[in-house]
Amino acid sequence: MTVTEKTSLVTGASGFIASHVVQQLLEKGERVNATVRSTKNKKKIQHLLDMQEQRPGKLNLYEADLLEAGSFEAPMQGCSVVYHIASPFFIENKIRDGQKEVVEPALKGTQHVLDAVQKCETVELVVLTSSVAAVFGDNADVLEMKNKTLSAEYFNTTSSVTHNSYPYSKVVAEKAAWKLYEQQPKPRRWKLVTINPGLVLGPSLSRTSESGSLSLLDQLLSGQLLLGVPDLWFGVVDVREVATAHVRAAEFPDSHGRYILADSKTHGFVELARILRSITQSSQIPKNKLPNALVRMSGPFLGLSQKWLRQNLGIPFDINNRPSIDDLNIVYRPLEETLADHYQSWKSAQALSG
Ligand SMILES: NC(=O)c1ccc[n+]([C@@H]2O[C@H](COP(=O)([O-])OP(=O)(O)OC[C@H]3O[C@@H](n4cnc5c(N)ncnc54)[C@H](OP(=O)(O)O)[C@@H]3O)[C@@H](O)[C@H]2O)c1
Repeated sequence: MTVTEKTSLVTGASGFIASHVVQQLLEKGERVNATVRSTKNKKKIQHLLDMQEQRPGKLNLYEADLLEAGSFEAPMQGCSVVYHIASPFFIENKIRDGQKEVVEPALKGTQHVLDAVQKCETVELVVLTSSVAAVFGDNADVLEMKNKTLSAEYFNTTSSVTHNSYPYSKVVAEKAAWKLYEQQPKPRRWKLVTINPGLVLGPSLSRTSESGSLSLLDQLLSGQLLLGVPDLWFGVVDVREVATAHVRAAEFPDSHGRYILADSKTHGFVELARILRSITQSSQIPKNKLPNALVRMSGPFLGLSQKWLRQNLGIPFDINNRPSIDDLNIVYRPLEETLADHYQSWKSAQALSG
């Protein structure tokens, strides 16, 4: 390896977001060490094997598990940047045991990756994939923020293992990372930047990702929400912008702190549905919202508590995404383009699996 050749570590490389980060790093000519849970599961990593073939010698795959101490040490050797992206993301009503399914892997994984960083003298920067879920728990939380606008100065204080366990997993993991960063002897060897995306949509390079954002849209596209969608609101961002933000956090020396990645206004679930309905021309995609009273009545069957519904139904808000634009030069593409590309990618995955 020549001295000018930079090597980065990407964790969870099989996933929706991480695959795009790996691709963008390779396109820039960098060498990438990428971790996956199993190199034997060819279906899960086929897109990475294809990238390896296209750029011989540039992408090395390693096995590592968030729950296994020490498993990130070998892949981190010689890396200057660590993109820690791996962490389970499931939609709230699909989670049965929040502690085991999301909190433990998120927290232990972050600790194990950063323990390896402490030991690896070559690492200068850690880019951690956090989430807007580490900034707020329920949409109602944002109404308490300055100008009722989501901003990176806040941390989620309302989530717990039993109420919004995925957001809780993200806030405890991010806080643990900041604590380990602060605890470094000065001058600090490694910098920490967090990328805090909203709901990430757009084309998937992976055919098998179980990301919560992909499964949410799969419910819409496959006709499971035929009767209508709940009055929910999301900060949305394209996966390509999220990947670019990760890469620029390393490329731009002045990057710092936390970057929220999302459009400046939330989008209604019904708006996503209507755009997809017009793109796909499918009458299986609803064009109407379900009345809130009906959704509240169906709460127990949907696996959503009354508290969750009260704190989230019918609450849009504004988002301060300026730091991502000013510091990382992110240009947010139109939602229609993201959804059209998302649909194309979903359709080709359906064709391959069917
Ligand atoms: N998608 C969104 O809307 C969104 C929004 C904000 C933040 N995020 C964050 O972005 C990151 C990636 O999410 P994604 O949307 O790309 O989901 P994804 O496709 O499901 O990726 C999650 C990755 O984590 C890995 N992982 C899970 N448990 C693991 C374990 N015990 N050991 C090692 N690896 C493990 C998965 O590996 P396997 O392939 O082996 O399962 C997968 O590669 C997560 O940190 C998530 O919290 C996502």
